[in-house]
Amino acid sequence: MSEARLIDGRAFASALRMRVGKGVGDLVASKGVKPGLATVLVGGDPASEVYVRSKGKAAAELGMASFDHRLPDETTEAELLQLIAGLNADADVHGILVQLPLPGHIQTQKVLRAIDPDKDVDGFHPINVGRLGMIAAGAPLDFPVACTPLGCSMLLTDVLGSLSGMNAVVVGRSTLVGRPVAQLLLRADCTVTIAHSRTRDLPSVCRTADILAVAIGRPEFVRGDWIKPGAAVIDVGINRIPAAAGKTRLVGDVVFEEARQVAGHLTPVPGGVGPMTVACLMYNTLQQARREAGLPFAEI
Ligand code: GUN
Repeated sequence: MSEARLIDGRAFASALRMRVGKGVGDLVASKGVKPGLATVLVGGDPASEVYVRSKGKAAAELGMASFDHRLPDETTEAELLQLIAGLNADADVHGILVQLPLPGHIQTQKVLRAIDPDKDVDGFHPINVGRLGMIAAGAPLDFPVACTPLGCSMLLTDVLGSLSGMNAVVVGRSTLVGRPVAQLLLRADCTVTIAHSRTRDLPSVCRTADILAVAIGRPEFVRGDWIKPGAAVIDVGINRIPAAAGKTRLVGDVVFEEARQVAGHLTPVPGGVGPMTVACLMYNTLQQARREAGLPFAEI
């Protein structure tokens, strides 16, 4: 059995960003509309700061306007809601991203519900979650879909073509990743199983998968002998673990070296799903700006 082909998320994300950059240029030229992304970060969590900075930077690189709002830890829920109301009303803003997690004194669901669903480029608003839940097989994704799940789905379609009839197992039932990944696979005509921490005999369930998507946030949890030979494995996990000489390293939710001996296709960590998240955020922002400019939906 040959080694798995690695799915190069960096290369795919870079190509997607190029297409988005061209779409931004075309939109400015044809309609005079410059897509705008507002990012909101409450508090000074270092990891969140890195993410938010990379989002603002990516937007600027693609010719979008980027509006960065940094609020102190002690910001009240009312103040945050007021900022969002302003961004909802601002015609230069086509996408709003409130970085999660929010400080404990702020109700995340209340904040996410306050974002205009048509500017919800994270796809976290209940309206957009509902749109994905109600989508017919093969229907266009003409509304914002959560970025990491959208990235997983784009990678799978790129390497496999049609997913129709395949058995897909999604490990993890989170609202941010597992469930939307499952919905996207269902839309692509897969037979979908969502497995989770209470699933009986998880290895056997995983072994039924032609497509195995793992998003549980447990380092190196899924072993090579859980994988059906030739399966496409999407590892959404990004876990930092101790390594030799007091250093740390990033690993996924799957034991990479074991999976590589069995799978047909495999996303590495880092360099697999990770780069797709920001690229899909840019994609969603362009799509919402195009919609606002009155253009019909088209894949980019
Ligand atoms: N925190 C971790 N991932 C994400 C994401 O995709 N969007 C937002 N808003 N916050 C996050």
